[in-house]
Amino acid sequence: MLGQSPPTDPAGPLPQPSPGALDDFMGKMVGDMGAAMSAALVLLGDHLGLYRALADGGPATSAQLAARTGTTERYVREWLAGQAAAGYVTYDEDEHRFFLDPVQTLVFADEGGPVFLAGGFDVIAAMFRDEPKIADAFKSGDGVGWHEHNACLFRGTERFFRPGYNANLLTSWIPALDGVEAKLRRGAVVADVGCGHGASTLLMAQAFPKSRFFGFDYHDASVERARETAAAAGLGDRAVFQTAMAKTFPGDHYDLICIFDALHDMGDPVGAAAHIRSCLSPDGTWMLVEPFANDDLTDNLNPVGRMFYAASTMLCTPASLSQEVGLGLGAQAGEARLRRVCQEAGFTRFRRVAQTPFNLVFEVRP
Ligand SMILES: C[S@@+](CC[C@H](N)C(=O)[O-])C[C@H]1O[C@@H](n2cnc3c(N)ncnc32)[C@H](O)[C@@H]1O
Repeated sequence: MLGQSPPTDPAGPLPQPSPGALDDFMGKMVGDMGAAMSAALVLLGDHLGLYRALADGGPATSAQLAARTGTTERYVREWLAGQAAAGYVTYDEDEHRFFLDPVQTLVFADEGGPVFLAGGFDVIAAMFRDEPKIADAFKSGDGVGWHEHNACLFRGTERFFRPGYNANLLTSWIPALDGVEAKLRRGAVVADVGCGHGASTLLMAQAFPKSRFFGFDYHDASVERARETAAAAGLGDRAVFQTAMAKTFPGDHYDLICIFDALHDMGDPVGAAAHIRSCLSPDGTWMLVEPFANDDLTDNLNPVGRMFYAASTMLCTPASLSQEVGLGLGAQAGEARLRRVCQEAGFTRFRRVAQTPFNLVFEVRP
């Protein structure tokens, strides 16, 4: 722990905690355990439409919410009490009704909005469901491929990242790249590598109708899902999805290549970067988006670092270790390490162009 010295004699008697320290830590742990347990309640609220029904129908008793959602009152009563204790819904004690305040509505019920978080809880579910596989991997040293996880990971990843892309990609990240927005307006050729369900690809395809977008991912099921979403949105003609590895995806002379929150999941990020360099046009740009991280571990010991190190332990690092080279960059690589990856692949220009609390955005050029 920061500011504490390690024990000098591990075999000696346990040192007594300082007054109040144990109480403080127990208080923190009660909060943490409550958060971990109520994550399952967030999944219920999301999957059963309880948040949506509260947002759409307004304040409700447990009986009213159960009637709105076709669920059982006794369960909904318990869920509402737990959610109110968490501060995820608000309790009106005069009326004995529960409601979502404006902030709670945005976070739990506004799927298309910029700060929707409920969808990301499917990622948490995948981490728990697949914990036995990761425990085995800790012992064997083997990797666990992205495709080997419970399917809730793929949908959860899309729903976790999409709000950030909705909020930033078109308004802040692309405009921050030198000359790229103008090229996209005129008509450019773009690859989105490690595109998953294609949330970022389709957002760009919608915004830039004269450009052509190619989404690549090694995971068949994600590519299939991206295709279906593109077709449903009427974007199938200008957003094409194909199963391909980052080191060998087809095409050349791309004006823009993007990797959103996926480079660190790859076994050979340097190999992927070298391939990107080889198929960019000489004046092209690689937009590299990675999870926010500082360069030094001590600067990542904070709530965002906690979340990303957890995901990195359970998902990203095992994914990388499952592939050739198995570099295991980790989700908290940070700017200096990412710059080295790009330099090793032959890129000469690398600059941070934007950041949010969750992402770093780099412009990488030959
Ligand atoms: C954390 S997800 C991000 C998905 C998507 N870019 C997004 O932001 O929602 C990482 C993605 O990288 C893909 N991936 C991992 N290694 C890959 C590789 N070597 N080549 C292509 N895709 C890869 C995974 O299948 C997964 O869809």
